[in-house]
Amino acid sequence: MTFARSLSTSSKSLAKTAKTAAKPSEIVYGPLSKAQKAYLDRVIRVDQAGELGANYIYRGQYMVLAAQYPHLKPVLRHMWDQEIHHHNTFNRLQTQRRVRPSLLTPFWKMGAVAIGAGTALIGKEAAMACTVAVETVIGGHYNQQLRVLTNQYGVNVYDKETGDKVAGEELKISPEIQEMSETISTFRDDELEHLDTAVAHDADKAVPYMLLTEGIKMVCRGAIWTAERI
Ligand SMILES: [Fe+2]
Ligand SMILES: [Fe+2]
Repeated sequence: MTFARSLSTSSKSLAKTAKTAAKPSEIVYGPLSKAQKAYLDRVIRVDQAGELGANYIYRGQYMVLAAQYPHLKPVLRHMWDQEIHHHNTFNRLQTQRRVRPSLLTPFWKMGAVAIGAGTALIGKEAAMACTVAVETVIGGHYNQQLRVLTNQYGVNVYDKETGDKVAGEELKISPEIQEMSETISTFRDDELEHLDTAVAHDADKAVPYMLLTEGIKMVCRGAIWTAERI
């Protein structure tokens, strides 16, 4: 009896293995749920606004500091170039997925240039403290998105020819979502590199460091909350 049961279990699991062995080209991914789609739209909207903000913060810093401190010029330019790339990538995703941009876009541009140039006018250390604050918040924000995209974006998969749900298959993450996660994870690494660069360039010597960094972190968190919604 036990043997028979174990035999039938093993033949079931064999059948399951055979079915799960479907190659990626032979399956199609089911649609995202309404909630998954809504969150994804929010991810793209807030990340596009955030990278636009970063682009303009570094622009403001560069405007003020590049001529004054030739040794900082390539450092600032490198970070700015990466932000331009991040911004362009989310612009493209926004167009591809037809996500409406944040309605406050002109305000984000003005605010970001003001923060970038304003801290740079206080001094190069204050500009670096601003980078520490911004990149700390953005790093955490991207990590949170990555957790959701990894844990909550599985969809059913279907046989390409028959259209039937592939039996025994667990929910799977589509290549499109995987690609989005890879993009966010690469950008998160860039942001953390900016954070290290700012620390290496005396961010902690800014006066008043705590007030500047905590104040800017608060502004960033408020901006993220708002850009996700408006
Ligand atoms: Fe960025
Ligand atoms: Fe950055």
